[in-house]
Amino acid sequence: MRLVRLIANLGYGSRKEVAMMFREGRITDAAGDVLYADDKRGHADIRIDGEPLDAPASLHLMLHKPVGVTCSTKDAGRIVHDLLPARFRLRNPALSTVGRLDRDTSGLLLLTDDGALLHRIISPKSRISKVYEAVLAEDLRGDEVTVFASGELMLEAEKTPLLPATLEVLGARHARLTLHEGRYHQVRRMFAALGNHVVSLHRASVGGLALGDLAAGEWRVLEARDLEAIFASGDSA
Ligand code: URA
Repeated sequence: MRLVRLIANLGYGSRKEVAMMFREGRITDAAGDVLYADDKRGHADIRIDGEPLDAPASLHLMLHKPVGVTCSTKDAGRIVHDLLPARFRLRNPALSTVGRLDRDTSGLLLLTDDGALLHRIISPKSRISKVYEAVLAEDLRGDEVTVFASGELMLEAEKTPLLPATLEVLGARHARLTLHEGRYHQVRRMFAALGNHVVSLHRASVGGLALGDLAAGEWRVLEARDLEAIFASGDSA
């Protein structure tokens, strides 16, 4: 791939802007020698203003999404891309969230530019577990564990019942819920179906990948072992 296109695809600017960066001598090799747009170099050997390039595709990230930020790129308010370097928004292929968390939900959010991986993670067939902690407005009534595990709970406007889900009671109004699918506002609607209301919701893990010590608003690039961890806990039952 030509260098202008390679660098523009990483979001550093339009092809015209990147061509200008070449003319300004801002793009060099690792030894500091100025590169020209028609030079041939590998990704690892290119520097912009002395800095190595962002990772090429495929790029996968994990973000600790804070409350108050939306996953949609069209929202007028704060969006998850605002928490990442601005040029990530201009990457081609685009960096998309793997499913969504509501504006009022915090926790582990994955982003990737690999469409096939994204679909593999969100597909109910992969049976990747997602673990949520919920604080509720009302005391648990006692039958939630059984109802959620039944595989028969039908949410309003849905055509198929929910897959069995595991609820651990952590307190009178505090529970941990493990799901193997991701329907719209699923956790909130599950508790609403039993007459309760979720006051706060946090996603702690996706498959075997947990947030760890990532603080709210922080992100990091996923490594191969993180991707393995995501799929490690998917069972085929
Ligand atoms: N379920 C919800 O209700 N909201 C989320 O953000 C995720 C799961």
